[in-house]
Amino acid sequence: MSKEYYFDNSATSSPKPNIVIEKVTNTLINLNGNPGRSAYNKAIEVNREIFSVREKIAKFFNIENPLQIAFTKNASESLNMAIKGYPFKHCHIITSVFEHNSVLRPLHFLEEERNVELSFITPQLSDEELEKAIVNKIKKDTKAIIINHISNVTGNIINIDLIGNICKKYNLLFILDASQSAGFLDIDVIKSNIDILCFTGHKSLFGIQGIGGIYVKENISLSPLLEGGTGSFSKLKRQPLTMPEALECGTLNTPGIVSLGAGIDYINSIGLKNIQNHEIKLTSLFIENLKNVKNLIIYGDLNKTRGPVVSLNIKNVSSSEFSSLLSENFNICTRSGFHCAPLAHKFLNTYEKGTVRFSFGYKNTEEEIIFAINKIKNIANFFNERS
Ligand SMILES: Cc1ncc(COP(=O)(O)O)c(C=O)c1O
Repeated sequence: MSKEYYFDNSATSSPKPNIVIEKVTNTLINLNGNPGRSAYNKAIEVNREIFSVREKIAKFFNIENPLQIAFTKNASESLNMAIKGYPFKHCHIITSVFEHNSVLRPLHFLEEERNVELSFITPQLSDEELEKAIVNKIKKDTKAIIINHISNVTGNIINIDLIGNICKKYNLLFILDASQSAGFLDIDVIKSNIDILCFTGHKSLFGIQGIGGIYVKENISLSPLLEGGTGSFSKLKRQPLTMPEALECGTLNTPGIVSLGAGIDYINSIGLKNIQNHEIKLTSLFIENLKNVKNLIIYGDLNKTRGPVVSLNIKNVSSSEFSSLLSENFNICTRSGFHCAPLAHKFLNTYEKGTVRFSFGYKNTEEEIIFAINKIKNIANFFNERS
């Protein structure tokens, strides 16, 4: 089997760090009790472990009270909890064309079921233009800005301090989708005035699949989408509204939670800034070497620092064919198509064919990027010579 070149870290990070694998294995062997339900030693120990992960996450995002964090199964679940659980009704919400379907679909649910009007901004703007564009859209009944921190199609980053300040000034709720940014950019919920933070565990936070989380600011109450056992308040007829029980029903995903804690330990041991610098270096190397290749199109703003995500196309070649050629001939793993972000493709004029997405991770090396650059050039030249 030839070496695999894994460039699909925006879908899920791979490989997982050893510390994550070891921690999950140890939990399954030695800590296989149900948290929050029983009082024997192992169950108490699991509980402790889970609380320590809440504390790690709180520290990582500068959240004052770890109990305001609920564990979910992924960012999609967190975003549904936030968007459908907040009492939005007969009002107006500002969002962007770069949203993932896990934001767009719950928002369209609000549009259809709760008479909520949506406005879309196009984030590829300078900070001044972005501020103007948002402020121009604010109306009397605007209740929230719900936005994606890093586009999973172009990697472009939105200025969340700027948006947080606008939300504070105009008294709007700020919901951030940090699926692509948590573990790459420093996120501070206090500094950026974030009211609700939705994140997933299996991408740049290095956890396993099936774990995510939501932070909800203390004075905000979300209606639970699910009701059931919490191991506490057992005599209450309905789901307790205190956090985190309000949003955690049923047995928690203990292996997933400990994997997330180990992922954060791994990031802290390297340093978030070092991870960021490495991934920026790889992404710049990739773009610099490909931006002038004939008939190769790179999407997004090439002049701004971006997340480690680059979408490409070869003129007159379908994204699925391009991605298959990379995989079948060179064992290069990318993703083709629409990346669950249909409006981004309308904006980029790729609504018909989608794009081939390369997304880099901390484990990728410069040698791997150079290998990919050479193979992309070969494929582009092949089509250029044929046309
Ligand atoms: C920007 C963005 N938001 C939300 C999600 C959903 O994450 P998950 O599949 O972990 O729920 C993704 C996943 O790719 C994403 O890229």
